[in-house]
Amino acid sequence: MITFQQVCKRYANGKDALQQVSFQLDDGELVFLTGHSGAGKSTLLKLLTLIERPTQGQIIVDNQNLSAINRPGIPYYRRKIGMVFQNHQLLFDRTVFDNVALPLLISGYSRKDAGRRVRAALDKVGLLSKENLLPIMLSGGEQQRIGIARAVVNKPPILLADEPTGNLDPELSAEIMDLFQQFSQVGVTVLVATHDLALIDRYPHRSLVLRDGVLLEGAATLNGEESPQNSHASDLDLKEKVEGDVGQEGSAAR
Ligand SMILES: Nc1ncnc2c1ncn2[C@@H]1O[C@H](COP(=O)(O)OP(=O)(O)OP(=O)(O)O)[C@@H](O)[C@H]1O
Ligand SMILES: [Mg+2]
Repeated sequence: MITFQQVCKRYANGKDALQQVSFQLDDGELVFLTGHSGAGKSTLLKLLTLIERPTQGQIIVDNQNLSAINRPGIPYYRRKIGMVFQNHQLLFDRTVFDNVALPLLISGYSRKDAGRRVRAALDKVGLLSKENLLPIMLSGGEQQRIGIARAVVNKPPILLADEPTGNLDPELSAEIMDLFQQFSQVGVTVLVATHDLALIDRYPHRSLVLRDGVLLEGAATLNGEESPQNSHASDLDLKEKVEGDVGQEGSAAR
């Protein structure tokens, strides 16, 4: 569903945020994207949403080469992608229903036609009974679930999340991850950027590990096919890979 071939991203100031990044995500896969602060996680997601363009290399999404998509094509392409953010970016003067309906109304649905899809999305995230409340009346975890309902209301084949559990405690983080797993089980390809290694640790999914813009060799299968008796060693390995040179890179990035 998603293929990166030798992708490089150099920002205008000369910063090489991604270098020669190649990987593939299959349909319905759930994969973590991790690495120290400044490693390039958000940049990689921005290339997928066409907020940024690669300086070199090819990105193929759903058999479409992103380099062939021009400006007018971007909104159509983006309908393939649901995006979840750490600070969920809700409209606090609108109801839960209105927040989730927003992408549908933007793409031309009437309120009436949007209703069924909005309720289906709210049902999936367990918020159907709260559709008429304002976001401020909901907990942090529930607010994050509104953001997820909004991301999936279009039924996109791809869901990208940038630090979706950044503000949540471990229990609520697990709820959010459970939702992502449910989407992946029905065929949605899910990429979750996070530096929460404790969270990654609790799930069997593979991790793409970036260090200073480079995708680490072999990291792709670190969590995936490990036998249980090896999992502890691989956790340490992952921690080392992610935090190995944080002092150097992390401070330089800020
Ligand atoms: N628009 C930009 N112009 C120049 N440099 C940028 C830009 N955006 C990001 N960078 C730099 O590119 C590198 C990667 O940034 P990115 O935001 O992708 O990291 P990240 O892994 O998401 O970090 P974090 O965990 O802190 O969110 C950093 O060094 C950052 O300073
Ligand atoms: Mg980031």
